[in-house]
Amino acid sequence: MRESCRIVKETLDFVGRNIRAGMTTKQVDELVYKYITSCGAYPSELGYEGYPASSCVSVNEVVVHGIPNDRVLEDGDIVSVDITAEKNGFHGDACRTFLIGEVSEEKKRLVRVTEECFFKAIEGLQAGVPLYNIGNAVQTHAESNGYGVVRALTGHGIGHEMHEDPAVPNYGKRGTGMRLRAGMTICIEPMITMGSWKVVQDRSDGWTISTADGSCAAHYENTVLIKEDGVEILTL
Ligand code: MF3
Ligand code: CO
Ligand code: CO
Repeated sequence: MRESCRIVKETLDFVGRNIRAGMTTKQVDELVYKYITSCGAYPSELGYEGYPASSCVSVNEVVVHGIPNDRVLEDGDIVSVDITAEKNGFHGDACRTFLIGEVSEEKKRLVRVTEECFFKAIEGLQAGVPLYNIGNAVQTHAESNGYGVVRALTGHGIGHEMHEDPAVPNYGKRGTGMRLRAGMTICIEPMITMGSWKVVQDRSDGWTISTADGSCAAHYENTVLIKEDGVEILTL
């Protein structure tokens, strides 16, 4: 898991150094494919339930699962790049939202608060903590900043499969849910919107999920190992 996750992290760093206005989301995907395969790993989104690319590249109002295409990145866009890599039978999964050129203070704040939601969620996280404390921390931080929390998609367990039990929602009641155990690896991935939390799925491609009201969304994700006395963030 550490090795797959290190590759994911390095790939996102590589994307961060190269992503810029004028590129298409497909060119971003090419960077991801090249980097992951150069590490001897497989971009496990490619072919996952028929998904046609090595990354999800979601611009502005697209929340997740943006299929790389000819959309050109523009100055002021925020772009989430969500990738997974499989090496030696284990998967790593992480996402960053990148700022393209000069981005408005409003959008920068959304991206910052989304990242903060992740770090709030891992505060005090360790074996024995109830699962839904994670979502409660995300929801509390996002909503107190006036943002919406996407409900239709969740974080998840990860290991030999990209998606394993349990589902890890970004909302919930403190003190409820299964108790986490040492050795579990889970993905915590706040998906936060500037407006309503409602989302719509593109009927023509079957994947792209956008905000229903067209407001901007941000996404931040890490794969996390639960330990007796805390967590290890495997994709940082
Ligand atoms: N990486 C995504 C997640 O965080 C899953 C992408 S769906 C795929 O769970 F189809 F692109 F693989
Ligand atoms: Co992901
Ligand atoms: Co994930």
